[in-house]
Amino acid sequence: MSTSQPPTPPSSATSFLPLDALFENPVFAGGAGLAGLAAAASLGRKSIILGAGALKRRLLVEVEISKQDNSYGWLLAWMSLPRPTGGFIQSRMTRLHQLSMKTSSTSIFDKPRHASFMLHAGYGRYFMRHKGVYFQVSREKQSSSNMTTGEPHETITLTTLYAQRHLFEDIFREAHELAVEAQEGKTVMHTAQGHSMDWKPFGNPRKKRPLSSVILDKGIKERIVSDVKDFLDSQKWYVDRGIPYRRGYLLYGPPGSGKSSFIQSLAGELDFGVSLINLSERGITDDKLAMLLTKLPPRTILLLEDADAAFVNRRKTESDGYNGATVTFSGLLNALDGVAAGEERIAFLTTNHIDRLDEALIRPGRVDLTVRIGQATRYQAAEMWDRFYGDIDGDGAGRSRFLQRLEDLDLIAPEGGQKTSKMHTSTAAIQGLFLFNKNDMEGAIEQAPGLIPRIYEAEEHEGMRVPA
Ligand SMILES: Nc1ncnc2c1ncn2[C@@H]1O[C@H](COP(=O)(O)OP(=O)(O)OP(=O)(O)O)[C@@H](O)[C@H]1O
Ligand SMILES: [Mg+2]
Repeated sequence: MSTSQPPTPPSSATSFLPLDALFENPVFAGGAGLAGLAAAASLGRKSIILGAGALKRRLLVEVEISKQDNSYGWLLAWMSLPRPTGGFIQSRMTRLHQLSMKTSSTSIFDKPRHASFMLHAGYGRYFMRHKGVYFQVSREKQSSSNMTTGEPHETITLTTLYAQRHLFEDIFREAHELAVEAQEGKTVMHTAQGHSMDWKPFGNPRKKRPLSSVILDKGIKERIVSDVKDFLDSQKWYVDRGIPYRRGYLLYGPPGSGKSSFIQSLAGELDFGVSLINLSERGITDDKLAMLLTKLPPRTILLLEDADAAFVNRRKTESDGYNGATVTFSGLLNALDGVAAGEERIAFLTTNHIDRLDEALIRPGRVDLTVRIGQATRYQAAEMWDRFYGDIDGDGAGRSRFLQRLEDLDLIAPEGGQKTSKMHTSTAAIQGLFLFNKNDMEGAIEQAPGLIPRIYEAEEHEGMRVPA
């Protein structure tokens, strides 16, 4: 955001007095004056009104906001708001004839029909009024474009009378408050989609997921949460010792054990956003990864999903010529702690295949804490039961029968036994069973055999149980 102010502030108040009076005149200040001034300014070049350009420079203040700046989106959203005081112009935009549409989905899983629409001020020039003061808005697409994203540069320029320059502060404060408010209780996801080398908010912020809704084995959640909180409290310690202020976590375990859900809810708990990169995704190259990690959005947890993708054998090429993820092992290590790596960061890596990772990854500064998030344990199954049926299973008799059933089916380990095995069920599967039997605990107990895992990866096929 750059503010262009008149080159010389008014030297004496008296020389401004008549003009001030003019601007305070409701008709003149009611847009006509400003429009007239702008028109006069544009005619100035043709020398019809001598010195109008200089007049404009002296009398008007301009603020230019580029699309790269965070405030760009805030401002657009603010301009689309209904006017708080009503009046003859109901919305800040009712008089506008150029509108543009912004459609966003609220979740990764949203089908196209679950979308929200918002009308934005379109491209062009128009006038708006805020607290009785008129200002000019000019939203423009530049002919130049961003080298990395290919998107044309865009700017919004706000112009008002120099005497009313306090207006901008007010507008930006309101727009910022609005943005903060919209994110309250929400977790913002950032991704780098397509060829973009830049982070962008993904959809609308989602409602925070409470930590209590993710049930990990006893003590695991607490251990990670307290480690992260400790880290957040010890910035000075790192700075004093000249150590980059970074901490890395690796969560590994089978699909559907709650790794991603936990990280999302942890971000919510800390009031952080999430910056997500899926390393097995097409188009994630070493360069792109390194670039993205140098400019993480502030107050976000970096989430690198499928960390094993950087270690897979990339000789196998698919029929369309795609040969798997393009990020390499050294690319990942460099991005995590090479010279270009950001100085401050909390990173979470996830994988289903701990055996495919290289030991070099698990080194302080890259990964400081490795935690297994495994198949469901007895403890987790019991906790999940209580969350779903706690109110209808007052004495816990249903829970005892359910746990016994799981144990008999060898879907969880008996109390005191070895904790989990590949044959055990996943927490996602238990959640699925409970969702299917909402308010019907007998149904859940009855359908427990449905939890027997059916899908294993080829390498894990041996010893697989065939469901009866
Ligand atoms: N421990 C858990 N507590 C609560 N919900 C869970 C848990 N594990 C899985 N779920 C539910 O199952 C679904 C899948 O979970 P999630 O995506 O977090 O698993 P994941 O471990 O990240 O799996 P993957 O390795 O395939 O990425 C989510 O809807 C989540 O709410
Ligand atoms: Mg996941």
